[in-house]
Amino acid sequence: MSTQTGEPLRRVLVTGGAGYIGSHVVFKLLETRRYKVISIDNHHNSYPTSLVRVSKLAKELLPENPTEQEKDSTVIDTFTCDLTKRDDVRKVFEHYGKGGIWGVIHIAAYKAVGESTQIPLTYYENNVSATVQLLQIMSEYDCTRIVYSSSATVYGTPPKVPIPETTRLQADSPYGKTKVMCETVIDDLCHAEPHRWRALSLRYFNPAGAHPSGLIGEEPRGRPGNLLPLLAHIACGRVKDQLQVFGNDYPTHDGTCVRDYLHVLDLAAGHLLALDALAPESKVFDNAPDDARYKAYNLGKGKGMSVLDMVEAMRKATGYDYKYDIIGRRRGDVPDLTADPALAEKELGFHAPHDLETMCRDLWNWQTKNPDGYGGQAE
Ligand SMILES: NC(=O)c1ccc[n+]([C@@H]2O[C@H](COP(=O)([O-])OP(=O)(O)OC[C@H]3O[C@@H](n4cnc5c(N)ncnc54)[C@H](O)[C@@H]3O)[C@@H](O)[C@H]2O)c1
Repeated sequence: MSTQTGEPLRRVLVTGGAGYIGSHVVFKLLETRRYKVISIDNHHNSYPTSLVRVSKLAKELLPENPTEQEKDSTVIDTFTCDLTKRDDVRKVFEHYGKGGIWGVIHIAAYKAVGESTQIPLTYYENNVSATVQLLQIMSEYDCTRIVYSSSATVYGTPPKVPIPETTRLQADSPYGKTKVMCETVIDDLCHAEPHRWRALSLRYFNPAGAHPSGLIGEEPRGRPGNLLPLLAHIACGRVKDQLQVFGNDYPTHDGTCVRDYLHVLDLAAGHLLALDALAPESKVFDNAPDDARYKAYNLGKGKGMSVLDMVEAMRKATGYDYKYDIIGRRRGDVPDLTADPALAEKELGFHAPHDLETMCRDLWNWQTKNPDGYGGQAE
């Protein structure tokens, strides 16, 4: 990989940097040796160890006789900071001064659909109010480039599958609505100040897998809410209950819900493309309908896999003979969320080449090397 000698490192602030997706995004940024990463995380759903390990991985990738700048690129500026606390966030920006941070990748959020129906205000505060505040502080400090972590949940039950970005946004849950609201806020801001702001929303489908080293991976606090980490926890004995499959009478190939899984490192690589698209020389906004520089892209593989397909793939990866009960449909579940990723492929050059077997293998590698996860150790 070529290093950009002569070019100073670009400071990029990643919110939620210690989390599952955040840690893989930070890894991809460090791998380029073009960025100086600043992470803000309050460790609500993550452990500081993840970024210690990311830095270690980046150091291992340094060439022989690295320059001071290359060495510096492997050191992450980490701030334990809650995004809902305005003054604390401002202090981070103040540390680098006006114009000191090139751009922000805003990943931090609460993400449990079920929980969001029980404590919606907490979700609106953490996901929406904190985003508005972050944008205000960014503006104050002349930092006007943002990549926003959105989600396929913004589509609710889509009228057409595979789902193009032009689909109307109609999220069902408070969680999904927080994503629609933040996209709307960012879009409005880009329209209000078209010559200042540039922003991209990335609508993630279902990230899966882990870095192949097994050093970083998904480690939710509490029982995993997502299917793949749950299957991994069942196989390693951390979850004792049998798997419950919610409904097998959906209009899909085997009756169970279909989702579009992509390797978390492919998803993370999409963020590098998105950052490049925010650079002055980028052409991605040339075909925008007006002068606002805002766009949203699906990041998925474009391939749907059912719950039972995933159980089978994880059986192959783990050798564990999963037993499951089919129970009734779960409220709010959508039959099929498969991306049409053509726009991101065409305009960003995005691809998600890792296959399902690799995702399951990397997940299992992470799980078996870290049977107790990060274990809360500071390392
Ligand atoms: N994992 C998925 O399946 C998926 C799918 C679509 C979209 N997303 C979105 O991607 C993003 C990251 O998801 P993830 O799976 O990595 O989740 P995660 O919980 O592992 O990461 C989120 C991180 O944000 C931090 N955080 C939350 N609130 C914060 C606050 N107020 N201040 C500072 N830090 C805070 C958490 O501690 C955590 O480290 C979220 O915005 C989520 O909505 C995730």
